Amino acid sequence: MTATLYTGISQLVTPRPGPQRGRAMRELSVLTDAALLVCDGRIRWAGRRAEAPRAADEHDLGGVAVVPGLIDPHTHAVWAGDRLADFEARVEGVSYEEILARGGGIRSTMRATAAASEEELAALARPRLHALRDSGATTIEVKSGYGLDFGTERRMLEAARELGAEFALLPTLLIHVPPREGRAEYVRAVCEDLIPGVAREGLAQAADVFCEREAFSVAETRTILEAARAHGLATKLHADQFHTLGGVELACELGALSVDHLEASGPAQVAALAASSTVATVLPGVTLHLGLPTAPARALVDGGACVAVGTDLNPGSSPLFSAGLALALAVRLCGLTPAEALTACTVNAAAALGLGDRGALVPGARADFLTLHSADWRDLAYTLGANPVRGVYVGGHPIHPSKETPP
Ligand code: NIG
Ligand code: FE
Repeated sequence: MTATLYTGISQLVTPRPGPQRGRAMRELSVLTDAALLVCDGRIRWAGRRAEAPRAADEHDLGGVAVVPGLIDPHTHAVWAGDRLADFEARVEGVSYEEILARGGGIRSTMRATAAASEEELAALARPRLHALRDSGATTIEVKSGYGLDFGTERRMLEAARELGAEFALLPTLLIHVPPREGRAEYVRAVCEDLIPGVAREGLAQAADVFCEREAFSVAETRTILEAARAHGLATKLHADQFHTLGGVELACELGALSVDHLEASGPAQVAALAASSTVATVLPGVTLHLGLPTAPARALVDGGACVAVGTDLNPGSSPLFSAGLALALAVRLCGLTPAEALTACTVNAAAALGLGDRGALVPGARADFLTLHSADWRDLAYTLGANPVRGVYVGGHPIHPSKETPP
């Protein structure tokens, strides 16, 4: 296959490959007047333009900054219905947890999702995934979790599988909220029926559990994740969103890929994450949309943890359709530096998904990269509202922006 040499790169910016913790999250390589050689969807060479190897095909990018494609390690992009009434009620003072306890919130999205076909779910999710990709996300995790019943859970994962032909998606089975009655039987059926089937059919790479007062206890979460692990699935948790129940400690003990949210985490959870390889994923869209305290991202980085950032795109707690904006908000709301935020959205987000082949612009990595509208990469973290991303390249190929916008 022909190699393409991309030139006209004012700054070629990359973190080191692999998960980065603590201070290393700030250590980006910024090469000026650079070039990138791509072959067979992978980076073959990256360095100064003056030292670039020759290539049959050359493409001048026009003097802009190039950064790795962003990786969104946490979305609930497949859903039906809307949460506009919840939004209005919350703004008027009803809390997210109260709405959920009354049978609304996540439970209302479950009812709407249960009524949708696989084709409808895929059609609803497609423009959301386009929006995420246009914002710079070249790999996107997608969770199930709005299935009242196992059939709906599988339909959600099948819709994600169908969309996997158009986007680089990583599907996760999310065990989100228990039924109001018969929760012990439900947990048993999840472990003995849903998880084995999903694992057997390769419908998900990982299992995730919402560990929270209005959802699953630590003991139930452990049971479910141990079953997932026994069936070869990686594990993730939603924990410490509202209450510090012990989900973070469980994630570290189980060697989960990531534990996400952490808005209620304190020094003990920061210390546990700093001492473990589990990635701490923070979700600034939730802080903005629900007005929750921010996760202690600054303390996590300073303590030496591996921190990632995700959009948590979902209709209830984070209608954030932009991975670039999640990065910019992580700087404003979570106190990360622009360099830390870029590392959090690239190599560390890849680690939160168990992926080691992307997130850094180094030889051998997937050629997933972004050109910006600016010659200075920091515009990616600086810009709010407009899209600082000019071009999205996946496997070395330019992806054309979509004209559709999500509903
Ligand atoms: O990550 N908190 C639990 N789950 C999702 C929200 C889902 C919803 O509100 O629909 C989250 O915030
Ligand atoms: Fe979530």
